[in-house]
Amino acid sequence: MCGIVGYVGPSPSLAVLVAGLTRLEYRGYDSAGVAVLGPDGLGVAKKAGKLGALVDLLDHSPLADGTTGIAHTRWATHGAPTDENAHPHLADSGKLALIHNGIIENYLELKHEVEALGAVCLSETDSEVAAHLVAHHYSESGNLTDALQKTVNRLDGAFTLLVTHQDHPGVVVGARRNSPLVVGVGDGENFLASDVAAFVEHTKTALSIDQDQIVTITPDGVTVQSFSGEPVTPTPFTVDWDASAAEKGGWSSFMAKEISEQPEAVENTLRGRIHPDGSVDLGDVNTLIAEHDTKRVVFLACGTAAYAAMIGAYAVEAWAKIPATVELSHEFRYREPYLDGHTLVVSVSQSGETMDTLMAVKYAIEKQATTVSVCNTQGATIARESAGVLYTHAGPEVAVASTKAFTSQIAAIYLLALGLAQKTGTLSVAERQEIAADLLQAPTHMATMLQSDERIQEMAHWMADTRSVLYLGRHVGYPIALEGALKLKELAYIHAEGFAAGELKHGPIALIEPGQIVFVVVPSPREAPTLHNKVVSNIQEIRARGARVIAIAEKGDAAVLPFADEVIAMPPASSWVAPLLAVIPLHYFGMELASAKGLDIDQPRNLAKSVTVE
Ligand code: AGP
Ligand code: GLU
Repeated sequence: MCGIVGYVGPSPSLAVLVAGLTRLEYRGYDSAGVAVLGPDGLGVAKKAGKLGALVDLLDHSPLADGTTGIAHTRWATHGAPTDENAHPHLADSGKLALIHNGIIENYLELKHEVEALGAVCLSETDSEVAAHLVAHHYSESGNLTDALQKTVNRLDGAFTLLVTHQDHPGVVVGARRNSPLVVGVGDGENFLASDVAAFVEHTKTALSIDQDQIVTITPDGVTVQSFSGEPVTPTPFTVDWDASAAEKGGWSSFMAKEISEQPEAVENTLRGRIHPDGSVDLGDVNTLIAEHDTKRVVFLACGTAAYAAMIGAYAVEAWAKIPATVELSHEFRYREPYLDGHTLVVSVSQSGETMDTLMAVKYAIEKQATTVSVCNTQGATIARESAGVLYTHAGPEVAVASTKAFTSQIAAIYLLALGLAQKTGTLSVAERQEIAADLLQAPTHMATMLQSDERIQEMAHWMADTRSVLYLGRHVGYPIALEGALKLKELAYIHAEGFAAGELKHGPIALIEPGQIVFVVVPSPREAPTLHNKVVSNIQEIRARGARVIAIAEKGDAAVLPFADEVIAMPPASSWVAPLLAVIPLHYFGMELASAKGLDIDQPRNLAKSVTVE
């Protein structure tokens, strides 16, 4: 999530920090800020919006420059993107500044604690609470590193923190847990950043900071210790790409970067919301579910988000035994659907600005339905219109083709389905525990699927001239077939179509001719033997007619081997986790075929990241 830069050294900090934030813009953000230790103390400038707004602010109200500073680009998770909520956050009467990437899960209890100690929180953020906690511990010891160490041992969640204090010019202290932090080692100057892009133009010598470590930088030195205080020798490395690649953090495209972030995005979406006993903590949505007499669930979405909703609807019906349907937003309100006060309308939208979905939500509200938004953008219009919001924490998704938002949406809707099942009591504790355990394992299995890219890249090169690709899936694999087809259409501009595998014999099998490429998402032989066998039969039927079959199947599934030209193996997982795994090679296929055709991967022709017109 977003960008962090720290600097100590002889150069004027402001220019180094703002340039560093510029190099991190690719990470996406909604506000930015900087704190510099000038001759008269700590100066802070922060502004909602793009970096240009911060630069304008600095032009109009210059900060006294100095040689120590921290800077931040924010992707809001707690509190809308406003000037007040932007970082850095101040504490200790404006003498301490803190910036934070991530989510502090237990910030509310800590907020009560620091307020009881006299702190006044000016923002809605979880981050400001951490600033006041560091200030409290600093007041006890006068040692900034010690104060941060005591603080991080009180935090739950994901965080990279940087702090600076006007009593300590030339010192910046950082800490990380489940969020990136790296040191840039210069000559008489040192840097801290979310990734090397921020300082690679100054130095390619870096040190990696690992989980639960604290780092203190001065112009002449770097010291690292564990959260429990033991000294640590960090691992040095040399950055092997230049500043131009920094735009995408070293990735060839935003899409490649965002596919690789899918395990982390799902992990962050689940973080702190699902417990081993299968209970879920969804904030205001828990209350909304408890108070709403839900007789049916209607999902509203477009495109990829609609496919996530389809998978979610399967879960709602299977787990909560509540009727659930998925409506394409642009069709919904024009067919005069029946809605009432017992209808829970769940909109799914990465941007939260899709006009088709926004208008459908407004229509649902007019019809007395209760609305929940599953959204990736804090404070987005659809989120603000809805009675409840369940944010995905995928971080900014820059590529037009949605990937990490899609898998995060599935994870978020699973949480909602578990919340509904918690209320209807239709799952035993053991069943809820099993689902929770499976979902908490999903990021690990997803990380395994990232390794499929190399083979997919090879396949994409011999398929570069293909004119049509078909995708088959069954049950939760069917929406994945639809998503795979959409990715190929929007990225490689090739006709592609997803089918429910059972539909083949009702017409589409007429499309099969020798050489026709067909991806098949195969259910697990362990988890869904009946569906598995039916899909294997489908594969035999199309293979007999000359199709080239690429099967995405569970590792060790021997039944598929004789009939597939290619098998992409998935680690054994539950049927509910399988879609999160199967979609990754299909995302790669769309991207690699577009790359093989020399097309623009991040900005495909004719498309916008958010369709804000009807
Ligand atoms: C997905 O790759 C497409 N870019 C598109 O289908 C997108 O999912 C759809 O426009 C919905 O966008 P939203 O999630 O921001 O509402
Ligand atoms: N949770 C913090 C906030 O909402 C930090 C978000 C980020 O990673 O930028 O301000």
